[in-house]
Amino acid sequence: MAGQELVDNLNKALSLELAAVIQYMQHSFLVTGAEREVYRTFFRDQSEESHDHAKTLGDKVVALGGVPTVEPGMIRQSTDLAEMLRQDLALEREAMAAYMAAWESCGDVERGTRFMLEERIAREQIHIEELEKMTSERKANVTKEKITLRQIS
Ligand SMILES: [Fe+2]
Repeated sequence: MAGQELVDNLNKALSLELAAVIQYMQHSFLVTGAEREVYRTFFRDQSEESHDHAKTLGDKVVALGGVPTVEPGMIRQSTDLAEMLRQDLALEREAMAAYMAAWESCGDVERGTRFMLEERIAREQIHIEELEKMTSERKANVTKEKITLRQIS
């Protein structure tokens, strides 16, 4: 049986993925206005991906001799799209911290779990970067790099 610390950290990640399933679905329900056409699907896709992530985490917790949590983390709601995206970014960052902690607990013993987490962390990082772009926290630095638009002939 793997260390209790690893199981606890995987369960922390699971609780955040369960929160993400619900939060993204709720955002897909609540988004209104012209953006709804695009964001309804975006939020539902994110909810489904979180569901997939939750499933692999729950299976892994049992494989390591633990009991998967049924308690979701904090769920944030809003009717404002920009606020929703900031809430989703906050949740993704919390999940990343939990995945990193789980990765740290793997050590040299749980290599398979560690490789699984590395793949997951790489994927979650892309989510965070995209949400940072959507909230405009992250953008290309156009003051340093001159952007030239070229005509394609
Ligand atoms: Fe995830």
